[in-house]
Amino acid sequence: MRKKIKVAIAGIGNCASALIQGIEYYNSNGGENTPNTDFKIKESAYHSSADNAVNSSSSTENHIGLTSYNIGGYEPRDIEFVAAFDVADTKVGKDLSEAIFASPNNAIKIVDVPHFDVKVQKGDVLDGVGKHFSEKVNISDNQTIDIAKVLRDTNADVLVNYLPVGSRTATRNYAEKCLESGVAFINAIPVFIASDTNWQNRFIEKNIPCAGDDVMSQLGATVVHKTLAKLWVDRGVIIDETYQLNVGGDMDFYNMLDEDRLEDKRVSKTSAVKAMVPYDIPMRIGPSDYVSFLKNDKVCYIYMKGRFFGKVPLELDLKLRVPDAYNSSGVMIDALRASKIALDRNISGPLESISAYCFKHPPVQMPYSQAKSNFIDFVNGKRDR
Ligand SMILES: NC(=O)c1ccc[n+]([C@@H]2O[C@H](COP(=O)([O-])OP(=O)(O)OC[C@H]3O[C@@H](n4cnc5c(N)ncnc54)[C@H](O)[C@@H]3O)[C@@H](O)[C@H]2O)c1
Repeated sequence: MRKKIKVAIAGIGNCASALIQGIEYYNSNGGENTPNTDFKIKESAYHSSADNAVNSSSSTENHIGLTSYNIGGYEPRDIEFVAAFDVADTKVGKDLSEAIFASPNNAIKIVDVPHFDVKVQKGDVLDGVGKHFSEKVNISDNQTIDIAKVLRDTNADVLVNYLPVGSRTATRNYAEKCLESGVAFINAIPVFIASDTNWQNRFIEKNIPCAGDDVMSQLGATVVHKTLAKLWVDRGVIIDETYQLNVGGDMDFYNMLDEDRLEDKRVSKTSAVKAMVPYDIPMRIGPSDYVSFLKNDKVCYIYMKGRFFGKVPLELDLKLRVPDAYNSSGVMIDALRASKIALDRNISGPLESISAYCFKHPPVQMPYSQAKSNFIDFVNGKRDR
């Protein structure tokens, strides 16, 4: 019998859809079918990195898109969804396998998902639904469920928080329910829990691990921008100014039209790049607009201006277009497996290596290469957290 990772999800939006479909995709056909997307995966684009000690010998073409097929003995097939919470009337009451395709979700479909026998239950709304969100989503009339009880009854190991940006109270509420029920908390959104000292202490006191905050996409704006900034600094190029503008056409971007909900997202994204530059520079980083026809695609524009040898000026302009939800799930599948390893080892509080590797606003910021190396050391038992 393989050991399972029992996962509960709060917020059955595009990210949940991509994570669930992705796991089914690797489980059902080993990734042999071509996804229904313009962004075809080319065999040549994949190579398993020699430095990746967590990558087992089972790296094959079928595992394209995963950083590691096997992490500490855990494979994608070991992830099992046991509970789901949302508030939208299109999702609450439905089986999770249907809810992930319900409106207004618009992540692309890559696979048929079997019936899970996991009904989406209604969580506390609190500040989860903002003014823009409420234009497109009606709140379900169903009774609010006792979340801590569901987490206990389903024996969930981990709860993943995928709420809309700006859901500070609702996120804290799910974190509280994890503390109450003894379930690990993974925070995919820019509300500060794993990176906040008070919350860290509360998770330590209850002997429960937490990871976060704000998932860093597999090949998204943040990891590209922070890596470029580090490269410029390492190569002796002075950065004089930089911006990163992002547009998209999903509910995440529609919700972020509300500037009042955006503050934490700007802080999270900016801090990741700022940590790579050892001096202050003008920097503007964050979500920039909603473009409906982009659907779940996100387009990012990175601009950097600086000076190199002889103080001669140079500029860089980069455009990156990605299906946004799938960009986050390749990382979440690693965060889930590593968090389960922490549970197996009875490690509590903020998981520093996992958070630095998988999230934009971790308890400790570090360059990507360092974060990856620490993550591998953690999985291999050479680091405590
Ligand atoms: N690459 C990425 O997509 C990426 C990267 C980093 C962070 N994130 C963050 O992850 C989060 C999820 O992204 P998404 O694209 O799935 O968003 P989404 O808008 O598609 O989904 C959010 C879901 O949360 C539900 N919800 C609202 N209030 C709730 C409550 N109180 N309880 C339970 N459910 C509630 C909504 O009904 C919706 O189904 C966002 O905050 C986003 O910024 C995503």
